[in-house]
Amino acid sequence: MLDHLLSEYQLGQTKLANRVVMAPLTRSRAEGNVPNDMMATYYGNRAGAGLIISEGTSPSVNGLGYPRIPGSFSTEQMEGWKKVTRAVHDQGGKIFMQLMHCGRVGHPDNVPAGGRILAPSPVEMTETKMYVDGKGLLDIPVAHEMSIDEITLTIEEYANAAKLAIEAGFDGVELHAANGYLLEQFMHPKTNRRNDQYGGSVENRLRFLRNVAEATVAAIGGDRVGVRLSPYGVFNEMGSFDTVDETFVSAARLLDEIGVTYLHLVDQEDMGAPPVPDAIKAKIRETFSRSLILAGGYDAHRAEQDISSGRCDLVAFGRPFIANPDLVERFREGAELNVPDYDTFYTPGPEGYLTYPTLAETA
Ligand SMILES: Cc1cc2nc3c(=O)[nH]c(=O)nc-3n(C[C@H](O)[C@H](O)[C@H](O)COP(=O)(O)O)c2cc1C
Repeated sequence: MLDHLLSEYQLGQTKLANRVVMAPLTRSRAEGNVPNDMMATYYGNRAGAGLIISEGTSPSVNGLGYPRIPGSFSTEQMEGWKKVTRAVHDQGGKIFMQLMHCGRVGHPDNVPAGGRILAPSPVEMTETKMYVDGKGLLDIPVAHEMSIDEITLTIEEYANAAKLAIEAGFDGVELHAANGYLLEQFMHPKTNRRNDQYGGSVENRLRFLRNVAEATVAAIGGDRVGVRLSPYGVFNEMGSFDTVDETFVSAARLLDEIGVTYLHLVDQEDMGAPPVPDAIKAKIRETFSRSLILAGGYDAHRAEQDISSGRCDLVAFGRPFIANPDLVERFREGAELNVPDYDTFYTPGPEGYLTYPTLAETA
């Protein structure tokens, strides 16, 4: 029985048909960083999710570190996104845009003219390579250290991107402060070596997150803003640090005060990372008064358990949604799941994107 997982939920202003969230999934199909018809079909096919969180979408030309990821700052991009939100809403779904500024996790060759790879501090990426179309996997040059003016401008870019997202029909935005991208680069002492008000103490390392969250909430309202965090995450050369618990519990407290509607915690253990201690998840649950989404390696049964026991309100599924457009229906029917094909996660074109069959198509 999946009574809890399949029950309705009121997330801020947004009424969800069930507690199954489609996790944000970069799929690199946005040629020219512009959402297209193929993406509208892909998201529309997944509208059975209670909530879809879009793939990471850059609020700035500077944040487009990967190939073929979309943006939320130009007229052309927003026209493309309107097709996506229409496709999802026409089928009764709800969709938030994930705002992902890659910061130092980006190659200059992926950034269009006028853009620049930015980071809190010029800290080299030693293990990570970056794919560039036509060139293959390349070393990542050291990013440019952001000036105070550049920080101020970037905060405005997040708020502007959120406003444009709402105008394009999104139900809200999720700030990506997980997995080693720009917001987490400020939170983490390994990547933030600054001596000004944005670096050093826990309070200073959280200042950029605070500023971005406040500006975004001021732009579109706290009911429409969520934040993704990955305490103890190791993606993109992050890893644990001395004040990790204090940093993340303080982040949960300040985001609660600012009034964001949900926190979304990622656990990448199922993808080869060390487990996230249960204690920090419980502490964040206790500290943050509104909704909590958990993600990482879930199946329907464990999701039902975690919601019914009160560990969280919603559960996000990543890879299962790549391979199963009708994931919720399959949960409801107790049907088998299609297996995801890792080789086509990030490749251009419809193969491995629009080619997974629904139950009806299989029958
Ligand atoms: C192909 C792929 C792309 C992803 N892209 C993003 C992304 O853009 N933003 C993000 O926050 N997480 C991203 N993730 C992480 C997922 O949201 C999710 O946390 C992860 O897949 C674990 O959940 P799962 O075990 O249900 O797949 C990605 C994961 C995969 C497999």
